[in-house]
Amino acid sequence: MTKLEPGANHYGHDVSSKIGSAGPSLFEQYPLLAELWEDAKELLGVRSNDAHTLYSVSVAHQLLGHYPQADSHVVLPAMLLHDIGWSAVDSDLVLSAIAPGAGNAELVLQHEKEGARLARQILVGHGVAAEDIERILYIIDGHDSRKESTSIEDSLVKDADKLWRLTGHGLDTIMDWFGLTRMQAFTLVESRVCGHLFTEPAQCMAAGFIAVERANMLAQRLALEER
Ligand SMILES: [Fe+2]
Ligand SMILES: [Fe+2]
Repeated sequence: MTKLEPGANHYGHDVSSKIGSAGPSLFEQYPLLAELWEDAKELLGVRSNDAHTLYSVSVAHQLLGHYPQADSHVVLPAMLLHDIGWSAVDSDLVLSAIAPGAGNAELVLQHEKEGARLARQILVGHGVAAEDIERILYIIDGHDSRKESTSIEDSLVKDADKLWRLTGHGLDTIMDWFGLTRMQAFTLVESRVCGHLFTEPAQCMAAGFIAVERANMLAQRLALEER
């Protein structure tokens, strides 16, 4: 669990009045996104896709800050809904569709197609403009299988999808998907992410995640936990 409350106050004084406010959350900034999440979260309850999606939406939002010309009203809903199609795939087959050394292109295409179909229903239900819906669905239907990017919005979704794998949550999840040590999962993910990102800000973000994770796995860092 993420540590939200202090375990101590070694300083002994209340400094909270000297700290600015955190600002609205992503979902407070984009109320439509909060509504879409309510519709999507059940469909994402396969293999931690729900948490994966929240990290990727946050990463996509951060990347959007570098691209004012990119349409956040396309990127963020596409990111939020991109993996809902896994709900239509036999859950026992989901990991074999993406496992190293295995893979099933048919199932990958199926989750993209089903995702686009389900996303259309959700987006229409929330009154999203038809033109935006088509752009969102085009990104979802091809987010894994289409290796090239067709727009900056497409690039940001693809990059944020991959970057999750380098986060602590991504590595925790992938370790248990395939029975890998943290170092094995990190080695796998690093090779699959680095060199496959479309945007420079995503490459910088990857470098940041990698630095933190390499520090986490230093023998000297791990020894500190044992003291
Ligand atoms: Fe996917
Ligand atoms: Fe994904």
